[in-house]
Amino acid sequence: MLQTPPLSLYIHIPWCVVKCPYCDFNSHAVKGDLPEQAYIDALLDDLELDLPKVWGRTVHSIFIGGGTPSLFSGQAMDQLLSGVRARIPLAPDAEITMEANPGTVEHDRFEHYRAAGINRISLGIQSFNGQHLKTLGRIHDGEQAQRAVEAVKAAGFERFNLDLMWALPGQTVDQALADVEQALAFSPGHLSHYQLTIEPNTVFAARPPVLPEEDLAWDIQEACAERLLQAGFQAYEISAWTQAGQASRHNLNYWRFGDYLGIGAGAHAKITLPAEQRIVRLRRKTLPHSYLQAASQRGFVAEQRELASEDRGFEYFLNRFRLAEPCPLDEFEARTGLTRQAIEEPLARAEALGLVEIHENQVHRTLRGAQYLNDLQALFLPQQ
Ligand SMILES: C[S@@+](CC[C@H](N)C(=O)[O-])C[C@H]1O[C@@H](n2cnc3c(N)ncnc32)[C@H](O)[C@@H]1O
Ligand code: SF4
Repeated sequence: MLQTPPLSLYIHIPWCVVKCPYCDFNSHAVKGDLPEQAYIDALLDDLELDLPKVWGRTVHSIFIGGGTPSLFSGQAMDQLLSGVRARIPLAPDAEITMEANPGTVEHDRFEHYRAAGINRISLGIQSFNGQHLKTLGRIHDGEQAQRAVEAVKAAGFERFNLDLMWALPGQTVDQALADVEQALAFSPGHLSHYQLTIEPNTVFAARPPVLPEEDLAWDIQEACAERLLQAGFQAYEISAWTQAGQASRHNLNYWRFGDYLGIGAGAHAKITLPAEQRIVRLRRKTLPHSYLQAASQRGFVAEQRELASEDRGFEYFLNRFRLAEPCPLDEFEARTGLTRQAIEEPLARAEALGLVEIHENQVHRTLRGAQYLNDLQALFLPQQ
């Protein structure tokens, strides 16, 4: 039987100063003035329209992502978060994260974000190496990256994440390690360590840079992982590293197939309706101008679809197997509305292939399961 999982709120800010050549997020170079006020108004109207789907529920985490949310002023964030609080109950200890780009953070902006109620910052550092930052088309250099982390700390943020990318064009093991070392010098509680991937419809896809060969990429990954483990970090997800107690609660809720409202251009939402034994997914209009235009008719949603029972097993494990923690079968049943018998066959196959182990009603992804994650996930695809 479907049960109500924890609820999060994702808020998308779709603008950036420039579009990075590797990025396939719904982000657009800002042209002219940023329509800050119109967008905040639209976001709050958008949220209001979804409230009937989540009456009586409390939001446990908010993630303001992008794009580059740090293009918005502290005052805009204050208005946004006050508006959210006025519309939906927010847990007193809610984690409220905002993404920031080191190239857009003026002096004292972080103090204002903190005063607005943001209690966790995720900084898109990517690298501290000026040459690599240039290749990545970033608007910041190594010094700005350092200054941004210092500003986050000086503003009093106890919880912050640094995004680093690795396997960059021309990168050596030592350079990747130097990035990790520099990040560690700031004592972050959380590090996201992403392998650079070439995504369709990006500048890098059209003009691919020369990436490190597979063996070198493997060496980079191993060396960085070893250093992070030595520094007391745990890889609780494929690319996410945390010190004890610093995992991103918002992302954990996604990966555990929790519910989330999603407002803003192109945002996705997933909502469980236990009384009707339904799960619905929604997607907002993607382009910033269509989203803003939709405000006058209050028609922000581009697509709403039911998550059919036969797709739920795959969609659950798609994210769940990204996590290192074992997966309780009780959680699977409560969040998908399926019985464990429904996945008996793929689970047995995964076990036979050494991709998972099952102990006391918990599914443990093995090291091999992490290495062959795509194969493991694919076992749960609905049979045609
Ligand atoms: C929405 S962006 C983060 C915030 C902000 N826009 C910035 O870039 O500073 C999320 C993160 O995804 C990672 N990312 C984006 N595209 C990627 C790619 N093609 N390969 C690997 N990581 C990528 C970057 O580390 C980036 O910081
Ligand atoms: S700043 Fe971030 S969201 Fe914007 S284009 Fe670059 S990576 Fe993508």
